[in-house]
Amino acid sequence: MRRKLAAGNWKMNGLSAALTEIDGMQEAADGASEVLLCPPATLVAQAAQRAGEAIAVGGQDCHAQASGAHTGDVSADMLRDAGAAYVILGHSERRTDHDERDEDVRDKCRAAWEAGLTVVLCCGESLAEREAQNTLDIIGGQLAGSIPDGATGHNLVVAYEPIWAIGTGKVPTTDEIGEVHDFMRARLERRFGEGVGRSVRLLYGGSVKPGNAAEIFAVSNVDGALVGGASLKAADFVPIIEALN
Ligand code: G3P
Repeated sequence: MRRKLAAGNWKMNGLSAALTEIDGMQEAADGASEVLLCPPATLVAQAAQRAGEAIAVGGQDCHAQASGAHTGDVSADMLRDAGAAYVILGHSERRTDHDERDEDVRDKCRAAWEAGLTVVLCCGESLAEREAQNTLDIIGGQLAGSIPDGATGHNLVVAYEPIWAIGTGKVPTTDEIGEVHDFMRARLERRFGEGVGRSVRLLYGGSVKPGNAAEIFAVSNVDGALVGGASLKAADFVPIIEALN
């Protein structure tokens, strides 16, 4: 059985005062589903202390090397040392803003596993790619190129985030989400074997809100969500966690 996961990606939002939101999420986080918050790197250590046992904490990126002359970067070991158990890798905003390619994401993924972190690997198509009916090809290519050998249900979570749905209020139909999630499950089973393929959790991300969460969570092979804007406030994130519980 895959444990459902409600993950929040705070992106480049949040000063230390925002950590009080974590207190309001604690009760809901005691339910059946796992809850994960990925604040900016500056808040990982404080968030991990404040979150305690019920809420896991993750980073939003890491460098492919464990240490060295890389000004401004953060290594997977550093995240782990600060109390993180997870790291988001390959988010479309990193692929766009920092020209990250599948090979870069794959190298980072290896580094994260080396440090003992679970990776939330993001993939997703642009609007032009969906309109050209290339969605499954794009997703298949990203999964093949970004995930190194050695994936397990413990070290990998995959998040499907259509780029056109991120922060836009636009959400694919439940049929469209189901098609991609079933496809991702089949690809993971084919590459890593049925046991591993079935144990990797698959999240949907892109404009998940309290009002649409239950409908999305009912879709086949959706094991939770990677939530951006609606994870910043307990008032929004708690109903999403509860819809998953
Ligand atoms: O990683 C989560 C994200 O990209 C979705 O953002 O704000 O549309 O929920 P949002």
